[in-house]
Amino acid sequence: MNVDDVRRLKGVRKITVLTAYDYQIAKIIDAAGIDMILVGDSLGMVVLGYEDTKQVTMEDMIRHIQAVARGVRSAIVVGDLPIHSYDTVEDALANAGRLMEAGAHAVKLEGNRPDIVKALIERGIPVQGHLGLLPQTAQSMKVKGKRRSEAERIIADAKKLDSLGVFSIVLECIPMDLARRITEAVETPTIGIGAGVHCDGQVLVMNDMIGMDDGYSPRHANVYLDLNDLIGKAVKSYIEDVKAERFPADRHSFH
Ligand code: KIV
Repeated sequence: MNVDDVRRLKGVRKITVLTAYDYQIAKIIDAAGIDMILVGDSLGMVVLGYEDTKQVTMEDMIRHIQAVARGVRSAIVVGDLPIHSYDTVEDALANAGRLMEAGAHAVKLEGNRPDIVKALIERGIPVQGHLGLLPQTAQSMKVKGKRRSEAERIIADAKKLDSLGVFSIVLECIPMDLARRITEAVETPTIGIGAGVHCDGQVLVMNDMIGMDDGYSPRHANVYLDLNDLIGKAVKSYIEDVKAERFPADRHSFH
């Protein structure tokens, strides 16, 4: 898989994307055949325990992209540029370069930033756009693009990013009909999260998909496993075994 393969998949089949933040999960989902792995700045919430993505640093991203890249053989690895790492063209070029050196094949950035996107693509760095709900700057996590003016702005932004040559655009939390209009209006594939079925592909936060959070699941997520419950039960069994001296048994011991 490379970014041109992703482009070619538009209209052929749906593109599959999951987030990952560490070596072992990256290895598992790559071997299972995922097309693209996003080392998202959602890392701030699901791995680092922050309220939002605003505290994620370049150092955080580099460390986790390196870990993911070590586990990946075939998927494309996309690294999120964290907040304030692309405030200027110079910062964007330097920081995107650092993410690529860490093992990303492409970078993602939020919003319509034509000057930055153009400079990165001219430098040979593939860019994934991100429109709709933009967690780095959003005041609330509500669906975007319900109002006509907002919807028209998102469509215009998508067309602009498309004309600049982004290899895909993430559409987060927008009405499905708006996502359909954008998907039809642009040549580049759209990757939806909370954007309905008409997008060219789907992305989910891995931890949401495997049910890591205690009872919480965003409306847009499909939960395939209740890992929170499974891990809790496994830990309780371990605690009981240690207290009852059933673990370690003879087979775990050295003579
Ligand atoms: O950071 C992230 O995981 C993302 C996805 C929600 C698209 O940007």
